[in-house]
Amino acid sequence: MTAPETILVFDSGLGGLTVYSEVAAARPDANFVYVADDAAFPYGGFAEAALVERVVGLIGELIAAHRPDLIVIACNTASTIALPQLRKKFALPFVGTVPAIKPACAGSVTRRVSVLGTEATVAREYTRALIRDYAGDCRVTLAGSKALAGYAEAELHGAPVGDEALRAELLPCFRDDGARTDTVVLACTHYPLLLERLRKLASWPVNFLDPAPAIARRVVDLLGPASPPGDGRARNAGTTRAIFTSGRAPSAALARFGIRAGEPASTKTA
Ligand code: DGL
Repeated sequence: MTAPETILVFDSGLGGLTVYSEVAAARPDANFVYVADDAAFPYGGFAEAALVERVVGLIGELIAAHRPDLIVIACNTASTIALPQLRKKFALPFVGTVPAIKPACAGSVTRRVSVLGTEATVAREYTRALIRDYAGDCRVTLAGSKALAGYAEAELHGAPVGDEALRAELLPCFRDDGARTDTVVLACTHYPLLLERLRKLASWPVNFLDPAPAIARRVVDLLGPASPPGDGRARNAGTTRAIFTSGRAPSAALARFGIRAGEPASTKTA
């Protein structure tokens, strides 16, 4: 029997679970390793060189330990700075998560798009280049948030912040200069965890763009579709290991994504 493929999904915390669930739905026959570098959360506060060093070092250890067939960097803050080095150093496919500026600007009717991300992501040259290359005549507002990824973690841990705190982070996205913002790019994988609340707190209805479905399609492009039942692979191989670099896997939060904690839960980087 052919061994099922192993897909490693990496983030600084719980946000990558929003990407994991889309990829796992597209490839239910694969084995998954979900890795949260929560010992270093939030990545938004890291200097660029330090973040590259940390991510490249950790990914090297994870490749040696788990031999994945593909790695999804389910983190904009890491992808927008570390992807080139990861691809240079390791000979396996990487799928990154970068702000969905191209589809947002292509689809905006009012030609007003906002990018909501960590302060680091919106400041990156990578993000600025996406705007130069793909915004066309769209006016793009960059809304960097220091707090929102932490609020998303709190939400998933069952300790949500109040509406006012959340609204304050969202407000800079809403631009009305004769035409109103109609699209908000969720440029941090943590933010879809707050989607229902963001919709309720929005100044007016907008399209919140979550990149997870596009990432899942990219994984399928690279690895191929799920194997049909009976082709010899273990269908629904179904194993998802959750690894938290702090050594503390949050079982209640993971259970909401169908992941059972209790699997081996630390790496030596902790
Ligand atoms: N989930 C990460 C992202 O997509 C960011 C959270 C953090 O600051 O660590 O950017």
